[in-house]
Amino acid sequence: MTGSRPIEIPIFDLGRQNEKLIDGILNEIRKVVLSGRFILGEAVAELEERLGEMIGGRAIGVGSGTDALYLTIKALDIGAGDEVITSPFTFIAPIETILALGARPVFVDIDPITFNLNPDLIEERITERTRAILPIHLFGLPAAMEPIVSIARQHNLVVIEDCAQAFGARIGDQPVGGFGDAGCFSFFPTKILSCFGDGGMVIVRDPDRAERIRSLRVHGSRKKYYHEEIGVNSRLDALQARILLYKLNFVDEWIRRRREIADHYRKLLKGLPISLPVEPEGYYHVYHQFTIRSPRRDELKRHLAENGIGSTVYYPTPLHLQPVCKDLGYKPGDFPEAERACSEVLSLPIFPELTPREVERVASVLSSFDW
Ligand SMILES: Cc1ncc(COP(=O)(O)O)c(C=O)c1O
Repeated sequence: MTGSRPIEIPIFDLGRQNEKLIDGILNEIRKVVLSGRFILGEAVAELEERLGEMIGGRAIGVGSGTDALYLTIKALDIGAGDEVITSPFTFIAPIETILALGARPVFVDIDPITFNLNPDLIEERITERTRAILPIHLFGLPAAMEPIVSIARQHNLVVIEDCAQAFGARIGDQPVGGFGDAGCFSFFPTKILSCFGDGGMVIVRDPDRAERIRSLRVHGSRKKYYHEEIGVNSRLDALQARILLYKLNFVDEWIRRRREIADHYRKLLKGLPISLPVEPEGYYHVYHQFTIRSPRRDELKRHLAENGIGSTVYYPTPLHLQPVCKDLGYKPGDFPEAERACSEVLSLPIFPELTPREVERVASVLSSFDW
């Protein structure tokens, strides 16, 4: 019997949040509709100003997190013959964009405790072709940015942060997206700060690169109908920007709530033979996911489903073993920690509106597993 019972506690439910926000958001949408301006414009400029100031850099609103990565890598002139050091344990977007631009992803194994790039393994992978390090702040926990940036500076490499899952996360007082040369954000509906569709943002320190990305997002054009290079059409639209500006008023509270839920889970799950997420000292985790690990992951997932509880495996297949990476020549065993994580991780329900009773129910179902 697998998942025969309807899901009562989903892994994520945006409907609960939208129910509270609907009037305010409809009002924001109304403003845009009446203005008649849907592409870029004031709302996008205002959002860029706010996020640029908050994170530290120039912000450029784009069509998605994937486009944020693509345009950043392109604007850094990384392409054929270049190598980018990154993690094999994440969503496909960073690897897809490196490959799409003709460069080569060079994987480095993860730290099994944080799930992020292991900085101790980076230097041995640097070659004369390496141009960039691309850490991902996975599940909402910042990657080890201090050693990563220091290695990059020593070897004259750029650092591109994939912040898609970590809006609001920080180390000390510095939010993610402000450590390296550029930070790439996604506003996909499941993200910490999300819009009603696709959306993304690049935060970049260098003003010339910012201008280049601004041009690339509108067909490689700085002056209307004059095109300097091959660009794309990838703009954040005004409706999404207004929705994001409205939601920005609540995002700190949502993150606080996610952290409270994580603490609650931690207390309730403490005695079980599973590994729980960590938050290294000085790091501020935003718990995009609450990801546990167990060698009995598949049985656990089944047990949760049989009790009406949703859970998801992020991610079941490491990127070096994906068919799209077959020409890179990697094989099973190359990145043992990433491979083991793929077979052991399980993300539990977490979203700001999840109630304490629901957290208790998830924990009690996990405790009732035949350990
Ligand atoms: C780590 C990571 N990078 C990049 C992306 C791409 O973002 P988008 O879906 O907005 O293109 C996502 C998620 O969707 C992600 O989880």
